[in-house]
Amino acid sequence: MHADADLTGLQAPQRAARKLVREALVGVDNDGWVDDIVLVADELVGNAQQYAAAQGPIEITVDRYLWGIAVQVRDSHLPASAIPLRPKQPGQESLRGRGLFLVDALASAWGVQLVGSRKIVTAIFIHRRPKDGNEHPPSPPCRA
Ligand SMILES: Nc1ncnc2c1ncn2[C@@H]1O[C@H](COP(=O)(O)OP(=O)(O)OP(=O)(O)O)[C@@H](O)[C@H]1O
Ligand SMILES: [Mg+2]
Repeated sequence: MHADADLTGLQAPQRAARKLVREALVGVDNDGWVDDIVLVADELVGNAQQYAAAQGPIEITVDRYLWGIAVQVRDSHLPASAIPLRPKQPGQESLRGRGLFLVDALASAWGVQLVGSRKIVTAIFIHRRPKDGNEHPPSPPCRA
């Protein structure tokens, strides 16, 4: 399942991103998981809006896979190395630098790549192990 949106020039791109992600994840087992994914999307779009809105379009995609969820936010602010891949815990007094720290804490993995002249930040969320201890989510029923 795939959902995407062009957030370029919107008054409230983070609100639009949160709505897109929630709608794309309807029916996904929640245990705070969907809220975590929405928060990560919100932070990534907030960064794109803050640091890259002047450089070009901002887009978001959400994809559901058997193994989990992928959220990608594209912008045109280069270089990709502007994004610290190991965000440090911000000091208590610090008013900034919390967004990527949160992303790092909540996503199973995340990273930045360049595709042509665009930058893509990807965060993936691998299904959590069910509380009954099974390794994998239940398989779909077999057809006779
Ligand atoms: N999409 C982006 N394009 C360019 N630089 C970015 C982008 N996202 C993050 N950065 C850089 O990484 C830094 C850390 O981002 P992070 O979201 O952790 O903190 P912040 O945006 O400075 O503050 P906060 O998110 O707490 O309001 C930013 O200050 C900025 O320099
Ligand atoms: Mg930020």
